Amino acid sequence: MDKKNKRIAWAITGSGHFLKESIDIINSLNNIDLFLSRAGEEVLKWYGYKLSDFKKKKIKIFKDVTASSAPVSLFYEDIYKVLIVSPATSNTVAQMAYGFSDNLITNIFAQAGKCKVHSIILACDTEPVVITPAPGKMVTVYPREIDLENYELLKKFKNTDVVRNVDELEKIIKKWH
Ligand SMILES: Cc1cc2nc3c(=O)[nH]c(=O)nc-3n(C[C@H](O)[C@H](O)[C@H](O)COP(=O)(O)O)c2cc1C
Repeated sequence: MDKKNKRIAWAITGSGHFLKESIDIINSLNNIDLFLSRAGEEVLKWYGYKLSDFKKKKIKIFKDVTASSAPVSLFYEDIYKVLIVSPATSNTVAQMAYGFSDNLITNIFAQAGKCKVHSIILACDTEPVVITPAPGKMVTVYPREIDLENYELLKKFKNTDVVRNVDELEKIIKKWH
């Protein structure tokens, strides 16, 4: 398929950090399919987002409801030009960095890699101190060494850009949109 007709696969995991910024970008783009981790689906609700608002914009939503992550088969059909995982929790970053693929998001990341579809990951835990929105208030968290190590490990993956802020994400997306 011609690159300009291909779609963006966008995965949301269960993070409040960078959630609003990710949704603002999603709403500014066309031809997006949304993939939600189970925690991602819950966290969207915690922060007041409704799935029906995405559906009104004709964004298709794939939830993590099958053990085999059935929607991964879409990656074999050459319909996606890029996979964006934003925001990516420390859990998802750890799983991806170590090659796990036992849920919808880690599976589409693995299948993107195997199908040579480029991935862009906006990781949440990339600095020793992170100020982040909890529902209703701001909190300060201190990512652990293991979280920062997993981020560094994921950066070594081929065909994968791992970014740590929204400016970097927007710059890379421009290359693919
Ligand atoms: C309100 C709320 C906000 C959260 N924000 C974050 C976050 O910013 N970063 C993070 O790594 N985990 C965050 N979590 C925890 C993750 O949702 C949790 O680790 C979950 O198991 C991640 O699953 P997933 O990686 O499959 O989405 C948050 C949880 C809740 C309830």
